[in-house]
Amino acid sequence: MPDTDSATISPAPVMKFSHLGLVVRDLPMMEQFYTGILGFALTDKGTSGIGATMAFMTLDPDEHHQIFLVDGRPDGDLPTSTIIPGSSAVLHHLSFRLGGLGDLRAMYDRLTGESDRAIKTATHGLCWTMYTTDPEGNEIEFFADSPWYCDQPFMKPLDFRMPEDELYKRTEEMVRVAPGFRPYAEFYKDLDKQVPRDLPGDSRI
Ligand SMILES: [Fe+2]
Repeated sequence: MPDTDSATISPAPVMKFSHLGLVVRDLPMMEQFYTGILGFALTDKGTSGIGATMAFMTLDPDEHHQIFLVDGRPDGDLPTSTIIPGSSAVLHHLSFRLGGLGDLRAMYDRLTGESDRAIKTATHGLCWTMYTTDPEGNEIEFFADSPWYCDQPFMKPLDFRMPEDELYKRTEEMVRVAPGFRPYAEFYKDLDKQVPRDLPGDSRI
């Protein structure tokens, strides 16, 4: 029997989140989207002994792969969330941080140039965000940090076509009156006490 008491009482070894694996129907199409449209670097690709082709890709020079695609997704509609209409039953979304509102808008234009899949734009208070789907319907989010924090969940639709200073002003008005409002830096200062900033050692050195 596992010793669940000591497992919960003793602290877990420090670790960092590294990557996510997605089962896909059309590997070449999905690889093209994540590398060609989103800019991931392909680091490896191959077929396993049981015939599953897989692609490894990253946006981080310190990670061999952040996204792993493997073929084998079944044809047809998959089950959906019991609460959110049309949303996946398991993977809610993948998310990508951009450098600022300008980059977020540039990605908006890039995505609308690539396909006519719907894009929802909004603010979570702590960031500006847009949600769309990849070519196989997995929900993906792109966001840029704001200087603020408020309790989550918080989501207000926002039209990104308005001038940037107007977008900023309207967001600030909504966030300042939201529960838990405080500067973003304060929130992360508190989080530092809870989550270690670095791994104690790097096994690759
Ligand atoms: Fe998210």
